[in-house]
Amino acid sequence: MRKGLFVSMEGPDSSGKSTQIQLLRRHLERKGLDAIALREPGGTAIGERIRAIVLDNAHPEMDYLTEAMLYAASRAQMVSQLILPALAAGKTVICDRFVDSSIAYQGGGRRLGEIVDKINAYAVRDCMPDVTFLLKVEPEMAKDRRVLRENDRIESENFAYHKRVCEAFLALEKKYPRRIVGIDGTLSVEEIGAMIAERVDALLGARDASL
Ligand code: TMP
Repeated sequence: MRKGLFVSMEGPDSSGKSTQIQLLRRHLERKGLDAIALREPGGTAIGERIRAIVLDNAHPEMDYLTEAMLYAASRAQMVSQLILPALAAGKTVICDRFVDSSIAYQGGGRRLGEIVDKINAYAVRDCMPDVTFLLKVEPEMAKDRRVLRENDRIESENFAYHKRVCEAFLALEKKYPRRIVGIDGTLSVEEIGAMIAERVDALLGARDASL
């Protein structure tokens, strides 16, 4: 029985997800609500080891299908070990990336297409977010932000790759308009935070009313 709310935060690299996750977590804590923040790939001890492999610049030979399966494996572990138990306990789960990232980065970026949905159907087993916030920034802007820091194996991909990732995110927003809330990532941190908090509060209110 799923009592908690499952929120995922998505967007291209350097779109401001981490800041918004911190803000949302603080917002929920101020309201006295139990919330956990997780990241993908990672979140569990096994997932963090997968993260180290999949993001390591020392593995340029990694096959795209291997890459997609590693992300899905990390996800499968996090769903069973952390997300499902937390939701059953009534906690709010805030996930920094989830299956939409695989569809955008491996499905779109790597051009693996629908095979990514299929692999992830096993990993996710119907445990989809109640709401997904998509922080939208133009690929050019994301690129400018990326050059300011050291890049991992995925971030180091070329501009055309990152453009395909951004386009795939926009296609997902169109495909799942009820779940995915697209937000202009160029708005101020405070404006974005307020929009997210408002939507989460509404969903929590609706959930409480239905329990
Ligand atoms: P992060 O920098 O947001 O922690 O994400 C790590 C990188 O992994 C980022 O470049 C996006 C990428 N990624 C995928 O390619 N596929 C996935 O399924 C996930 C979760 C992340």
